[in-house]
This record gives sequence, structure tokens and C-alpha cells, in this order.
Amino acid sequence: MEFFEVINKRRTVREFEDKPVDLLSIKKIISCGLKAPTNDHLRRWEFIVIDDIEMRKKLIGKEGDNIIKRDEKESITIIDNWGLTDEKQREMFLYAIPRQAKMILTAGTVIIPCFYTSKPLLQPISLSSLNAFASIWLCIENMLLAAVTEGVYGVTRIPKSPGSVKKLLNIPDEYEIPCILALGYPKKGRKVLKQYKIDPENKIRFNKWDNTIRNRK
Ligand SMILES: Cc1cc2nc3c(=O)[nH]c(=O)nc-3n(C[C@H](O)[C@H](O)[C@H](O)COP(=O)(O)O)c2cc1C
Repeated sequence: MEFFEVINKRRTVREFEDKPVDLLSIKKIISCGLKAPTNDHLRRWEFIVIDDIEMRKKLIGKEGDNIIKRDEKESITIIDNWGLTDEKQREMFLYAIPRQAKMILTAGTVIIPCFYTSKPLLQPISLSSLNAFASIWLCIENMLLAAVTEGVYGVTRIPKSPGSVKKLLNIPDEYEIPCILALGYPKKGRKVLKQYKIDPENKIRFNKWDNTIRNRK
């Protein structure tokens, strides 16, 4: 697949066909992740593939049970409390909020990326304290793009309690998790959310943050 086609095709998918992602595709996806830039040259990343449904149920936990029961009214209350006013953003959250648990149970595969960090993740003292965290997200984006070439799409879910996930999965203290990555084959007939089409012309500023030179040709 051509590079820009991959970039344009990648979308977040939260509804999946009932079809596992085979290990060969998973290996290809992870091998592309392992090509991403890394702050310390070592790529101290590990990947836990969760194919056991009971483990996935434990992963979403009691919070997941509550999410599955969420109706539209509750989701509206949540996004109203967040103060969201943008129409497309509200539509996305309205669709996403009730699916946060089910998408993990129904995905063709679930991967937990783990990254080594010697710094306390939630107490950064400088930008470079976050380098390991930044690097693993580059790895994840590579994985999401590689997945497209396999017909596989997915979503990154930020767990409310990463500590509980680490404990459940027996992840060593010196490793952290950035997200839960649910991947699979997109369900036919699923809702496709609209992306904003953003013209780079309106995003590039030259030499300093100055609106007057924005449209330089
Ligand atoms: C750092 C990050 C965290 C995200 N967290 C979640 C999440 O917890 N649950 C979810 O359903 N989607 C999550 N997403 C997916 C975004 O909602 C999605 O990328 C965004 O709506 C844009 O849609 P698109 O990927 O289809 O272009 C996350 C994406 C990123 C980059």
C-alpha cells in the first residue's frame, strides 16, 4: 500500500468483526513498532498480547461493567460536564464513551505496550523526563499504520488505573504502560466518525507566531 494511502486510511476503530488477528500480522505490526525512533537507542519495549477473554474481562474490571451499561443520556452528561461544545468532538465522545469496555472485549487482539523508564512517569521534572513516554507513542503510531496494511485498525485506550493493569499483568515496576491497544478487523456497517479536514496552509507559521505571514507562498 502506498504511504499516503496508509496515512489517510488509518482511523480509530472501536467496533470489530468477530475475527482474531493472527500472530503473523501481530508480529508484523510489532516489528514496525520496533522501528520507531527511541530516546535511548535501546527500544526497551515489551508487548503483552492478551487473547484470553477472561484476562480481558479482568483488564476492564468493574469499571468496564459500568461503562457497558452506560446509555446515551449518561454519555451526554459526561461530555457536558467536560464543557465540550465542538459538534464533531461531541459526536466522537458520544460514540466512544459507551464503547470503552466492549471494544477491548471484542477486538481481534489486545496488545499492552510496556516501556522501560528510570524516571517516575507522573512526576516529570523536565521535558526529557518524558522521553521514554514520547518514544513509546511513536512506536504505537508505527503499529497503527502498519496495521492498516494488514486490514487491521484499532484504538488506544488510556486506563484509569495503570497501576492495577500492571499488577494484573505482572509487569515489573520499572516498566510503564502508555495505553491498552485494541486492534481488529472493522465491523461492517459501523459508524464512521468525521475527521476535520485541516489545511496545512492554516497551520504553518514562518519564523515566529505571526498571523500576517501565514499565507506566504
Ligand atoms: C493519546 C491518545 C489517547 C486516546 N485515548 C483514547 C481512549 O481512551 N479511548 C478511545 O476510545 N479513544 C482514544 N483515543 C483515540 C482518539 O479518540 C482518536 O484518535 C481521535 O478521536 C481522532 O480520530 P481518528 O483517530 O479516527 O482520526 C486516543 C488517541 C490518542 C492519540
